[in-house]
Amino acid sequence: MEPFTLKPNLLKNILEPFTLKPNLLKNILVRFLSFGVLLLAVRFAFLIALRGQSCVAGDDFCLFNVRHMSSVAVQSDKRYIHYYSSVFQDLIAYGYLSPNSKSLCIDTLTGEEVLALKRIGVSDSIGVSKKSSRWKQPFKGNTFDFEFSSGLESSRFPVEFGSEVCRTLKPGGFLVVHVTAKDAYSFQSFLDLFECLRWIRSRETDGPDPPTKIQEIVMKKERQKPCPNNNSISGEKHSVSELKWEIIRNAEPLIQQEPLRPWITMKRNMENIKYLTSMVDISFKRKYVYIDVGARSYASSIGKWFKKQYPKQNKHFEIYAIEADKAFHQEYKARKSVKLLPYAAWIRNETLFFEITRDPKRKSIATQRGRGMGRIHPVQSSASYVEDVDRIQGLDLAEWLTNVVGERDLVVMKMDVEGAEFHLMPRLMETGAIHLIDDMFLECHYNRWQKCCPAQRSPKYHNTYSQCLDLFTSLRATGLLVHQWR
Ligand SMILES: *[C@@H]1O[C@H](CO)[C@@H](O)[C@H](O)[C@H]1NC(C)=O
Ligand SMILES: *[C@@H]1O[C@H](CO)[C@@H](O)[C@H](O)[C@H]1NC(C)=O
Repeated sequence: MEPFTLKPNLLKNILEPFTLKPNLLKNILVRFLSFGVLLLAVRFAFLIALRGQSCVAGDDFCLFNVRHMSSVAVQSDKRYIHYYSSVFQDLIAYGYLSPNSKSLCIDTLTGEEVLALKRIGVSDSIGVSKKSSRWKQPFKGNTFDFEFSSGLESSRFPVEFGSEVCRTLKPGGFLVVHVTAKDAYSFQSFLDLFECLRWIRSRETDGPDPPTKIQEIVMKKERQKPCPNNNSISGEKHSVSELKWEIIRNAEPLIQQEPLRPWITMKRNMENIKYLTSMVDISFKRKYVYIDVGARSYASSIGKWFKKQYPKQNKHFEIYAIEADKAFHQEYKARKSVKLLPYAAWIRNETLFFEITRDPKRKSIATQRGRGMGRIHPVQSSASYVEDVDRIQGLDLAEWLTNVVGERDLVVMKMDVEGAEFHLMPRLMETGAIHLIDDMFLECHYNRWQKCCPAQRSPKYHNTYSQCLDLFTSLRATGLLVHQWR
């Protein structure tokens, strides 16, 4: 419902090209605009009469503060009012709500929850619905005894939602939320949104549109300042790390034997991969981030794989491409949705020598396949190769990651760095930055059997398959859901 978006300026801009006589035009404009304003006023009055709510142009919020329910005639509204009335009556019976509670319904789209509260005698209730991207609610701190929302899952700012509830709820007040996500993973993300609240109870109940079931979660604001975030499902049955173990147990197993034909085995493994997002509900994260380390061309993994195949549960992902090879930089300029970091992921910020290629024949093949052959070396050890290499800037990946994402974000990472993973991954573990990654796709480079030449190992890499397997195993042992990529 956006009846107030017609802007006089816009209208003026539309009319301006027809420069007839200025006076005449002005006259027409004035009439036109007055008529427009009149129309809007009528529409506004009509809406208030029909639904008993106010949603004022220019405000960031629609406020629903209903006095006369008789004017609400729409059939579907009645059904919802009936539904929420019974929900709130139950909450009164359990003592989470009382007729004297000062109550707030957050992100109520049409105000039925407020009507329902008034109907059952909770007269001091108001609803609020966000219109713009501003999220600070127009209320003082410690205002409400009871807050309710069924709109959290569609909120673009769940973390801000959480902090506003903490601010506006009185100590001892209750928050009740209806959500459809119901696995332990999303529940933990949900709890993490509310630093000041203690979880009281969750139960499954009928939603307003049967047969859909919903989760009803009750939380309470502590009277004394609570220790930061002591909410985990441990009180119930899981802990955060147990959640991670369960996800890893359900993931595809690591390939234990070195594949004799890796070009086939690794491709098949891609089809077996259990994505995090196909196992759990990823609602209630602050933001969603995909980081392609060693991105190469846009198409090679961002376009062909992440955009097309990775299940994203309708979430919008920020995308970062970390790629040092200048040959690929140009195409990212046109892609505004991808942030390019023109560096080589490394364990420190320092200048590196990047081996683009040694052999001109190989170079053309590499470029055709959209994948370079580069390997990076720290400055000192490369002094003798200077003709073959490019100077590039190394980026401290662990430090950068810690600056860019936090615990409440969902982070998917793909890494294909031509052997540097044996430096980068241990560094991520050492610094603890590894725990910021939720779903990881890692290509481990070793002296694999080659398709071209039977019984010959690739001379490019010195690490063995068993070293790769050790790396994957130790990563999973830290709780990281890591997959063998290609
Ligand atoms: C966190 O909650 C658990 C379970 O309710 C409790 O045993 C523990 O003492 C709490 N930790 C702190 C620091 O209060
Ligand atoms: C390393 O480089 C990145 C990217 O330029 C920068 O954001 C970061 O602050 C640098 N870190 C240090 C320690 O200089």
